Amino acid sequence: MNLLFVLASVIFALFSWTLVSGISNYNAARKIGFPIVISPVSPMNPFWILTYRLFPKVLLLRYLPFGLGTWARCTYMGWAFQDKHALHDELGHIFVIVTPSGNEVTMADHQAVHMVMSRRKEFIKPAFMYEQLNIFGRNLNTVEGEDWQRQRKLTAPSFNEKTSSLVWNEALRQARDMARLWSNQGAAGTKDTVADTATLALHVLTSVGFGLTYPFQGGVRNISPGHKMTYRDALSLCLRNIIIFTIFGKKILSSSFLPQKLRTLGVATEEFQKYMEEMLAHERQSAANREKGTGNLIGALVRASEEAQRSGGKVDVAHLGFSDEEIFGNIFAFNLAGHETTANTLATAIVLMAAKPDYQKWISEEIDECSSAMGGPTEWAYEEVFHKLQRCLAVMYETLRLYGSIVFIPKSTGFHAQSVTVDEKTHILPASTSVTINVQAVHTDPKIWGPDALEWKPNRWLEPSNSSHGQASSLTAETFIEPEAGSFIPWADGPRACVGKKFSQVEFVAVLAVLFQQYQVRPVLKGGESEEDGKSALIAMANNSAISAITLQMQEPRSRALRWEKWPSKH
Ligand code: HEM
Ligand SMILES: *[C@@H]1O[C@H](CO)[C@@H](O)[C@H](O)[C@H]1NC(C)=O
Ligand SMILES: *[C@@H]1O[C@H](CO)[C@@H](O)[C@H](O)[C@H]1NC(C)=O
Repeated sequence: MNLLFVLASVIFALFSWTLVSGISNYNAARKIGFPIVISPVSPMNPFWILTYRLFPKVLLLRYLPFGLGTWARCTYMGWAFQDKHALHDELGHIFVIVTPSGNEVTMADHQAVHMVMSRRKEFIKPAFMYEQLNIFGRNLNTVEGEDWQRQRKLTAPSFNEKTSSLVWNEALRQARDMARLWSNQGAAGTKDTVADTATLALHVLTSVGFGLTYPFQGGVRNISPGHKMTYRDALSLCLRNIIIFTIFGKKILSSSFLPQKLRTLGVATEEFQKYMEEMLAHERQSAANREKGTGNLIGALVRASEEAQRSGGKVDVAHLGFSDEEIFGNIFAFNLAGHETTANTLATAIVLMAAKPDYQKWISEEIDECSSAMGGPTEWAYEEVFHKLQRCLAVMYETLRLYGSIVFIPKSTGFHAQSVTVDEKTHILPASTSVTINVQAVHTDPKIWGPDALEWKPNRWLEPSNSSHGQASSLTAETFIEPEAGSFIPWADGPRACVGKKFSQVEFVAVLAVLFQQYQVRPVLKGGESEEDGKSALIAMANNSAISAITLQMQEPRSRALRWEKWPSKH
């Protein structure tokens, strides 16, 4: 009886809270002056993120009539990948999702988006969404204010042209082995496109980032001496379960009373920590034996931490120091930000290329032009070749436009109200308002991209330029289209844009060039299928993507195989 009473009171209290704060948030949202969607739950609520898959029926509510189910369209993380620009078509470029826990301003207006990303001090990263990424230490991706300035100042210079050329060489080397492995599978083809591009991207990162170079087959897939798990598995377990760290700290995860799944995650975090400690020791060792400036990405951090120790352990903007914990945080951040993103973009691009073979011919024309001038890709110098492979880069841009790793970018007004001006009207966003940059909607806006906005067409990025000099070949005369500020933002924009943008471009282009210089790729057909069926099944496989933990990924990448074979006779 008593228990029932307590239970009823709790439910009543919860209900009243929901209602009262819902109404107060609704009133606040009305003052902002954008269209409103009312939702009982926020897509960013960590408990909801963990559990919404248990309630698939909720998503069916979106079919309710009279707009009653609109909220169900935008209530799960990454909803915009499916919805594209549709909800913005109905409601406007900017609308507010009102929930009991707060208001979320969702933006797909490219000018507003550009402005928000330019004002880094006013539109900050919402701490509650980034806290989980601090599991191994605070890092460039998560810090704000002066800490961010110090960390960015120390890390950004390492992402330079010298690094790009290391990325280029290592990506060529890894890709050559991957291409051989894939073509050796013959008519059965390979289903490992995602797994193998992930290995490749990790190997490029460990080599260029941390000074550990491996052969494609082996490396992060092997268990190192003294370890219980491979580097790759430890990392991917941590990444896949990143949301769990919002609820459980890493210390508690190894407790014996927890379920097996959580304990395995505990082992993964310990193992990854151990791998990072070994990397750091290795870097300190080799830094001692070599000249300044020959280092890799963590080399710069290690030097900074040594400076800090010399000046008595002070870590602040004036001292430009780095703590060990920040080094670990950043090693993890580079892994988190730099490997699945690039790898999945590559894998999805390959799948789409197999579905649209005309684009294979299209890029191979460009690759051949480089080959006839400079021999096979493995001899290519970064400085001479990378900028010539514009069609390969266009394939990357187009894949990121429609299947970009980052579907939305969360921001917040933080402690102060902020104003934004849209269509000459000023709107005041109160303190602690979430602002979501709807990357997917911007990338699929027909007003920016035209009526074929939803179609994957890499050649939309290039236009014949008007250079009248007849001697230039038609290829070198193509110019890359520069979209308006704020309308193409797969690497974000403004001061907090991706530091690894060029890194990922160089890697992507190198891999594509190696693959398509010698080979073409086709779908492996299932019984009775036509070539056309096979191709559209591949597009469907790419369409069947969703946010797995942080980045967009194909949900069933092993459902179709790809067959690699030599070009018949080179054109
Ligand atoms: C196709 C590949 C990539 C994509 C689509 C991508 C996308 C992004 C995006 C959207 C952001 C902003 C995230 C936010 O606001 O929370 C970001 C930040 C960042 N990225 Fe990348 N990234 C890629 C590759 C890389 C690579 C290869 C590295 C490193 C090796 C890297 C390192 C970082 C770091 C450290 C940040 C935080 C920067 C800061 O806050 O100052 N990314 N990236
Ligand atoms: C080429 O010329 C056309 C019109 O003749 C013009 O619209 C276009 O912007 C020009 N492109 C470049 C890259 O100059
Ligand atoms: C893939 O998604 C695009 C964009 O929503 C759509 O236009 C296309 O028809 C889809 N294709 C397949 C085969 O599912």
